[in-house]
Amino acid sequence: MATTITDSQKPFSLDPYHVSEEFGFILPAPLAELPPYYQPWMDIAQHVTELIYSHMLRSHILKMPLLNTQLLESHRELRLAHLALSVMTMGYVWQEGEDDTVKMLPRNLAIPYCEVSQRLGLPPILTHADAVLANWRKRDPQGLFDMENLELLVTLPGGDSVRGFFMVTLLVELAAVPAIKSIPLVINGVQCGDAETVTRALEEFSQAIQGMTDALKLMHVYVKPEVFYGIMRIYLSGWKDNSSMPAGLVYEGVQAEPMEYSGGSAAQSSLLHCFDELLGVKHEAKSGAFLTRMRNYMPPSHKCLIQDISLQPSLRGFVQQQACEPLTAAFQLCVTKLLALRSYHINVVSRFITVPAARARQLRNQGNISQEETVSRAPTALEEKGTGGSGIMSFLKTVRDRTRDVFNLK
Ligand code: HEM
Repeated sequence: MATTITDSQKPFSLDPYHVSEEFGFILPAPLAELPPYYQPWMDIAQHVTELIYSHMLRSHILKMPLLNTQLLESHRELRLAHLALSVMTMGYVWQEGEDDTVKMLPRNLAIPYCEVSQRLGLPPILTHADAVLANWRKRDPQGLFDMENLELLVTLPGGDSVRGFFMVTLLVELAAVPAIKSIPLVINGVQCGDAETVTRALEEFSQAIQGMTDALKLMHVYVKPEVFYGIMRIYLSGWKDNSSMPAGLVYEGVQAEPMEYSGGSAAQSSLLHCFDELLGVKHEAKSGAFLTRMRNYMPPSHKCLIQDISLQPSLRGFVQQQACEPLTAAFQLCVTKLLALRSYHINVVSRFITVPAARARQLRNQGNISQEETVSRAPTALEEKGTGGSGIMSFLKTVRDRTRDVFNLK
């Protein structure tokens, strides 16, 4: 894989970046099984939810043999191994909630997990690349890629809402594929000064962003906010900027000092990072630093694509310089659609985090911590904090407002 393509003689292409024509950043046809030697992992990974509910996951993991990772050969084997070890790790850490966490991940899990992570260039924690991009299969292989026909390979507590959450996010990734495919057309069109090709590619691009917003709307159909907030969220959270694990986590047998990693979030999806670089969105320092850090949670080839888009001649500069009405309109429509996607996402976050967090606080203030109310089970450390540890809404609104700034073409 190329690290950067700066050779301006060659047309820009998606080939070096492990991006699929059909699936974009989604891993095509993920494996559902590992070679038989790894069955002890899969036996636990496929039953993580039941083992958490029976408080037996930690003891099962402690009894697991230490396996040699050298028998994992293909990229897809490594991705399934990472996914399986990730759900085990999230379950091991959070089995007893925020009040009884662990300081150390046992060596029989930590050592192979870090080896597999290193080979993939991913961190040893559950990422978007695991839970969404590599965690799907079709029930009927000939059937459609839609909610009815998609299933998770491994899951976490939260029942149908977990499937809904990961699968709707997967459908957002799928809806984005035409936008990803139009990126080389835009870049090469700018290189050759071909305003007409760039205009057409940007029209494709904006339509795809509309498709992503439409797919995101399905979150309300398939995910219950109280289940997301009260049950699922803790299993996605990490050990960086998290007051219930202030020191991070020791990966036994790997390193004596604790390590800190952020939890899983679609801020780790490469999509909007690519779009921002293409359209010229410049983020404010603090939110920009968080988003840049999230790139270390992506498959390296996808991170590299973002980087290489950022090195291309400016699309925004080209649009300004051409001063051609259809091109300007097509560019403006892309920014409008990206802004609308971010605004809609803010609504989703309000419904799935802000509102249930307020309800949980209200119950707590009334001294009414009823287990009947699912939101009461949520960890207080997370409340309205995001993966980055600070206020979610101010972060998301800053990011949205910086998107709006691109409009100013003067
Ligand atoms: C119930 C559904 C969702 C919730 C509750 C949610 C929550 C959040 C939160 C709290 C953040 C702040 C950063 C962080 O804590 O990691 C965030 C960021 C982000 N989320 Fe979501 N999210 C949801 C669905 C999605 C989906 C389906 C996508 C699309 C792939 C997405 C894309 C993003 C992006 C790109 C960011 C970074 C900020 C930006 O670039 O605008 N989210 N999300």
